[in-house]
Amino acid sequence: MKFFIDTADIAEIRDLAATGLVDGVTTNPSLVAKTGRNFLDVVAEICAVVPGPVSAEVTALDAPAMLAEARILTAIAKNVTVKVPLTPEGLKACRTLAGEGTMVNVTLCFSTAQAILAAKAGATFVSPFVGRLDDVGTPGMELIRDIVAVYRNYPAFKTEVLVASIRHPIHVVEAAKLGAHVGTVPPGVLRQMFAHPLTEKGLAAFLADWAKTGQSILGARRAAAE
Ligand code: E4P
Repeated sequence: MKFFIDTADIAEIRDLAATGLVDGVTTNPSLVAKTGRNFLDVVAEICAVVPGPVSAEVTALDAPAMLAEARILTAIAKNVTVKVPLTPEGLKACRTLAGEGTMVNVTLCFSTAQAILAAKAGATFVSPFVGRLDDVGTPGMELIRDIVAVYRNYPAFKTEVLVASIRHPIHVVEAAKLGAHVGTVPPGVLRQMFAHPLTEKGLAAFLADWAKTGQSILGARRAAAE
């Protein structure tokens, strides 16, 4: 499973990219607005830090204007993935961009029917929003199960299921069990994934016992070399 980071905060992206676990980044207009920075500058900086796909979303509503925006975004870096909404105009733009070899992330997917359309339009990724579905009492993970199953029936569909609107590590685990290709994870959720109280307790006990030996691995190496 690939991990994308769901943020436009460059400091967070740098910090997490240093773990070697980050395969890409997703942004949206709300995340960019939170930074208070120039959108194109933010995208350029992110693309320089993370070599994998970096989703940058268009804000126009009709396909010709989306394409004009997409040209500006794709000129920033090779790894820009144009994010378009799951609307008829968004899918028209998707079809054109995909035909030109541009990566496209079709966002705001809330049904399997929509996901089928995104795949037919040649999307590189489709983004079903699990957390927002959970919020309205519809189990988001059932949508992931359906989309993964439908796509598996059609090997000609090359679209990857990019699970979005992830709120906690259980979303990531459930998506992985279902075989989703990608999860876009908020920085806080990725940090939560590292944590387990038994890991912390076990490490503290090992280090306390090690301290009693009075040894140091680096010191032992130096002593052997002398
Ligand atoms: C990412 O591509 C989506 O825009 C994002 O995951 C939405 O998350 P939210 O529902 O927490 O805003």
